[in-house]
Amino acid sequence: MMEVTFYDREQETKEIMGTLGMKPRLITFIYGPINSGKTELITHLIEELPPEDYVVFYINLRTKLLASYDDFIESLFEMEMETGGAMRKGKETLAELIPSATKITGIPITREFIDYVFKDNKSKNAFSYMIKLFEEVKNSGKQPVMVLDELQKIGDVKVNGPLIYELFNFFIDLTKELHLCHVFAATSDSLFIERVYSEAMLEGRCRYLLVDDFDYETTSMFLSKHGLNDREREMTWNCCGGKPAGLVELVNTKLSGGDIVTKTEQMLEEAVSRLIFMLARNKEKKSDIVDMLSIFASDKEVKYSDSINLDLLSFLVKQNILFLDPVRRTIKPQSRLNLLAIREIMGDA
Ligand SMILES: Nc1ncnc2c1ncn2[C@@H]1O[C@H](COP(=O)(O)OP(=O)(O)OP(=O)(O)O)[C@@H](O)[C@H]1O
Ligand SMILES: [Mg+2]
Repeated sequence: MMEVTFYDREQETKEIMGTLGMKPRLITFIYGPINSGKTELITHLIEELPPEDYVVFYINLRTKLLASYDDFIESLFEMEMETGGAMRKGKETLAELIPSATKITGIPITREFIDYVFKDNKSKNAFSYMIKLFEEVKNSGKQPVMVLDELQKIGDVKVNGPLIYELFNFFIDLTKELHLCHVFAATSDSLFIERVYSEAMLEGRCRYLLVDDFDYETTSMFLSKHGLNDREREMTWNCCGGKPAGLVELVNTKLSGGDIVTKTEQMLEEAVSRLIFMLARNKEKKSDIVDMLSIFASDKEVKYSDSINLDLLSFLVKQNILFLDPVRRTIKPQSRLNLLAIREIMGDA
């Protein structure tokens, strides 16, 4: 049995490659429930892109501390800190920077532009520097691609003016207006996607790509590939559904000689505990929460309707219990484990 490697995502890959094959026109928002494999898909595709045709700038905001507007701008750039805190940059000019560049974490910056970008009016200058950089890439015969992962983190940034508008305008500039750079933004925060989806300025200027858990067939094939027998595959599906993170965990359990039954029981127990503590911490809302979750006693997924209390739904989405898909207008538990935990609690409530 072999270690887990990237599996499937044929449809999503086809869609993304289709977009990359044409001139940049729309912003692509990649969304889906937590741990569904969004980052994995993106990083895999970045690896696969021919370096003679594309230069990818990948920025993951997950680990960035974004307390201010300036933090956000700085988080976009790749800067090495020398001991003593001074910024050091190897390359002098943009032309020097490009030939070697193919897959880049962060936006590289040259010495000549540091002052320009980091003096006043940071965001405006940062964005115009990025346009210059992307033009330079284009002039070298390659297509620039920008990928921002965990974009919802900009929602934490408290600023005077709304950062989100400035950033989306910049994205629209890069795609629809200038056709200069492909823009992909990923998030597992479905409330953030709902905000994006309701944003008038983005209407007709972006598209949405759902990266969901695997379906039954894909899951079954993935598990067979890793040597799980019929019974183990069935138990795994009953516990994790097609959640890639859960599947990988169970495959690894098997690989290391562990017992799948024990492991699935443990995983379910953890999901139930998490739900019980969430209810205990929110006593005043408990009966409303139980009420809302009771929809899932019989259904795995429901259509969003006016009668659903949006505040409470938002709360449960924030707690990573429910996933809201604003594009399809559906609501479902974030994972099969969450669904099972909900059903267990319903039995006791
Ligand atoms: N297509 C795949 N093939 C094999 N393993 C995968 C695949 N997709 C995801 N995984 C595994 O599942 C786990 C979760 O994936 P990943 O971090 O990409 O999810 P995500 O949707 O980005 O999560 P988050 O919601 O936290 O951003 C990782 O350990 C990854 O290796
Ligand atoms: Mg991710």
